[in-house]
Order: sequence, then C-alpha cells, then structure tokens
Amino acid sequence: MINKVFDQEYLRDPHGVYAHLRREQPVAHTITSQGVRVWLVTRYEDVRAALNDPRLSKDFHRNPHVMKDNEMEGGDSSGAAAVVPDNMLFSDPPDHERLRRLVVKAFTAGRVRAMRPRIEELSTGLLDGLGGEFDLIKEYAVQLPAMVVGELLGIPEPDWPKVIRWSNTTIEGSALDPGEVVAAAQATIAYLGELCAAKRDNPGDDLISAMVQAHDDSSRMTASELVSTSWLLLVAGHETTVHLIANGMLALLSRPDQFAALRADPALVPQAVEEFLRFDGPISTSTYRFTTEPVTIGGTDIPAGALVLVSLLSANRDAGQYERADELDVTRDPGQHLAFGHGIHYCLGAPLARVEGEIAFRHLLERFPDLELASADLTWRPGMLMHGLERLPVRTGSPSTRT
Ligand code: HEM
Repeated sequence: MINKVFDQEYLRDPHGVYAHLRREQPVAHTITSQGVRVWLVTRYEDVRAALNDPRLSKDFHRNPHVMKDNEMEGGDSSGAAAVVPDNMLFSDPPDHERLRRLVVKAFTAGRVRAMRPRIEELSTGLLDGLGGEFDLIKEYAVQLPAMVVGELLGIPEPDWPKVIRWSNTTIEGSALDPGEVVAAAQATIAYLGELCAAKRDNPGDDLISAMVQAHDDSSRMTASELVSTSWLLLVAGHETTVHLIANGMLALLSRPDQFAALRADPALVPQAVEEFLRFDGPISTSTYRFTTEPVTIGGTDIPAGALVLVSLLSANRDAGQYERADELDVTRDPGQHLAFGHGIHYCLGAPLARVEGEIAFRHLLERFPDLELASADLTWRPGMLMHGLERLPVRTGSPSTRT
C-alpha cells in the first residue's frame, strides 16, 4: 500500500510523522509532493546502512529513466531531475572518488581555518545595528552563509544576491513549479560557466581558482565537471547552514534552561552545535538514490529500479540510538549523528559549516543574552529536502553591544 507522507501534517510536524513511521512503517513506500514513488527509510541503523550500501546508486546516467519510471499518473519529476549532474554528489565510484579528491585538494583544512577571521568579521558586521524586533533569518541566518560561500567561491560581491536567489529556487525544488527550478539551475550554470572561464585566465585566491588549477594540472576534471562542482558547492554550501543557525536558535529560545546553560558556559558551543544538528538539523531527507538490484532494507524488500530517500531528521531522533531523543541537551555528546550524512557522500563542507555555526551561536549569545521569540506563529518551509523556517521573529530588550 502507498501512503502519502509528505502532506500538510508533515509540514506542520515532521518529527511526529517520522516517530509514527519509525514505529509502524520504518521503510515506507510513499509518494513525493511531485507524484513520484519512493521508499522512505526512517530508523537510524537502516539509514546508516542504506547510506553505506553500494547497491544504492547516485549516478542517474546509469538509469536515465528511473525518475520517469517512478512517476505516478499526473506526477512530474522534472524539477528533481533538474539537478546538475557530473559532480561528486551525483556520481558513484570510481568517478565519485576522483571528483571528491580533486575538490579536497583545493578545499583544505587550511583554507577553512584561514576563513575564520573573515567569518567573524562578516558576522560582527551583520549584528551591528541589529536590536529590538527583527527576523533572525532574513537579517542574519541567510546573510552569513551566503556571504561565506560567495567569498569561498570567489563570486564578485555585487552578484551574490542573484546567485543566491537562483540557488534558493533550486533547493526548494520539491515545492515549486518544475519549470522555475529548471530555469534557475540553467541560469546558475551559465553564470558559473563564465566565472570558471574568467578564473582560468585570471586566477584569484578562491576555491574555484584552486579547483581550476587542480583541474589543469591533472586534467582529471572536465570543464563541465568543474562548473557542476562549483554549482554543488554553492547550493550545498549555504541554505543548509542558514537552517543550522535558525533551527538551533529556535530550539534554544523555546527552552530557557538550555539557553541559560549555554550562556553560562560558552565553551559548550561547539558541542551544542552538534546537538542542534542532531536535534533539528537542516536536512530532512537525503538526495535521491536508486536501487541497481533488489535490496532488503530493515526487512523490507525493495525492487531494482526504485527510488530511495533516507530521513536524516528521523534517524537523529531514533530512541533506539539516543536516550531522551526528543530532548535538546546542549551538554550531551550526540556522537555519530547523521545530519551531515554518512558513507562516501558524507558532507565535504562539514568543517566549514561547523566553524560558521560555532561563530554564529557564540556571537548571538554574546550580543543578545536576553533574546526571545517575538511570535509563536512559525511556519516551516515547504519541500521535503530542507527542514527550515520561513521566518524567525525575535526581540531583544537591550540595544546591541559589540562582540
Ligand atoms: C549545516 C550545514 C550542512 C549540512 C547539514 C550538510 C549536509 C550534507 C549532507 C546530508 C550531505 C550528503 C547528502 C546525501 O548523501 O544525499 C552533504 C553533502 C555535501 N555537502 Fe554538505 N551540508 C552542510 C554544509 C555544507 C557546506 C558549507 C558545504 C560547502 C561549502 C557543503 C558541501 C557539500 C558537498 C560538496 C557534498 C557532497 C559530498 C559527496 O557527494 O561526496 N555542505 N551535505
């Protein structure tokens, strides 16, 4: 039987829906909001195993019709199919290894470390002047990661707003008109194509230039792979971090004891960031995978040529894995949470996201120790991939002071 999971109830209370699925139907055959049949995996152990299973492919060149084959009558998967392939997230070994290695060569720990002072500066600049009542997402949580990824890739500052707008449209794909999603992806690719060509002639001190070098020295990344990888870094690199900051702040503001504990001991911030990722991470489901042969997950048989989504949000609340899984506890060590995925596609940007998160929470707590929610009327954004709020209205009693 196929049940619809991604409905209004899911948007209102995804954790409630996932808790029910983990109990009753841990590998559920369901339909996406675009009318595509998928198998949805919700228990921690099954999610981890699925993310490590080489029979679940991410390379849609290997089965170009798999999306169409799984459309229901009247369904439309073209928005989901608009992702730009030829990068590591949409490839299998050995291509995956080659593409990831080339980016790792350029996106080094040293590069992330070197960005720290600039991230501090950008954050301080954004917080200056904020006070009273404001939308924490619009004024801060969206801005900081967008600026950081713009700087990382070497996108000229005047272009940041339009590039970020296209990227938002791509990310919200599952909730929008497929035509709009395709157009946004095409605009980004055209823009990045020109940018990569410009960086080849005129390299700067940025990640795209470093990837161009890695590409030219080894001739192992094609021009289209380079553009596609830049697209991936742009899209993967900002919206996620927005919701790390916003979901984490919502969790804190709704629990004054946790807010007080973190304020009292700011050394807990890095660990609290991990707990925010576990408790209410930015990604609800992973990107699509498909079965290359029949596979059994958690006792459920899935045929070949089927689409599989694993829920990271659900896995991280599995009571089989975590004691008091539904409680936020900034003093706990959330161990191997799955918010950054698992296996060969484990998030490449996790070190940067952690630095951004740590700086953001430290600054927000220092600046606004009396921050509170300004409204209880909060709306989660549509779409099945991301888990984030539309707005986060907050207020602070005292004027802003410098960090
Ligand atoms: C809190 C912020 C972030 C979260 C929660 C997050 C989460 C994830 C997850 C779950 C995956 C795996 C998806 C799958 O297997 O289907 C992934 C992959 C990836 N992420 Fe992140 N991400 C974050 C920030 C970033 C940043 C800042 C960057 C880069 C600037 C980035 C770059 C990537 C890349 C390149 C991949 C593909 C890795 C591969 O396929 O080998 N991410 N991320």
